[in-house]
Amino acid sequence: MSNYPTDGSAVIRIYASNADARIFISDTYKATSWALIDLCTYKEFIEPLRAEIRSTFQSNHQNPYDRLYLMDSFLRESSRMNPLDGLTVQRKALKPFTFSDGSHIPAGNLVSIPQRVVMNDPARYTSPQKFDPLRYMKSRTDPSAATTKYADVNWDYTFWGSPRKSCPGRWYASYALKYVLVHLLTNYDLELVRPDTPKYFIWTTAIVPRSDVFISLKKRTV
Ligand code: HEM
Repeated sequence: MSNYPTDGSAVIRIYASNADARIFISDTYKATSWALIDLCTYKEFIEPLRAEIRSTFQSNHQNPYDRLYLMDSFLRESSRMNPLDGLTVQRKALKPFTFSDGSHIPAGNLVSIPQRVVMNDPARYTSPQKFDPLRYMKSRTDPSAATTKYADVNWDYTFWGSPRKSCPGRWYASYALKYVLVHLLTNYDLELVRPDTPKYFIWTTAIVPRSDVFISLKKRTV
């Protein structure tokens, strides 16, 4: 964070660090960066998300974060549109391996899931270029009828790795992102400082939010 004016507003910088090889830190900040960029880009979701936060926190649920269905779906859609790497589950065959469908991998070859392509495949997602968090809901008018959760993994959504061996930190990351979003949406109006500038760069196969993307936070009077 930088620039803390005295009225409680701020400008935050999307922070990119390739030197940080620890997946559990870097992936969480990258996913948070994308969620914030998407909130500023698809502003029409801001008020519905605030309404969900208000109603959920006013009711007496034991864990309100588990009831933020729209936010959960928003995060899933943000990650589908912005995977953190073009490839996932990258492996090297140490010995020859033959899959059940007959595909053969000679020893020494590299294999991976091209998740960016998979998550943009029209055979798997209707209108994949459209940012549509409601696609995960049975009913488009009832967010609580979400069928697929942010932390759910399947072969069409390998953001958290393969369904056979997924990220064990995904529920923690999902909560962490929701804490951040609830705090920012409740207390600030968010805006991209330069909406038309590029939002990411590619480093090998990684898709990294750029460090010169700034988001201004204006303290809300609620
Ligand atoms: C948005 C945040 C995160 C994303 C997108 C993410 C993604 C992933 C992916 C794709 C894998 C599988 C890699 C592979 O199979 O090659 C993985 C594995 C792993 N993640 Fe995460 N992760 C995140 C946050 C976290 C957090 C917060 C923790 C710990 C608190 C964590 C701990 C781990 C561990 C220990 C593994 C290795 C599991 C194993 O090999 O059995 N991750 N993660």
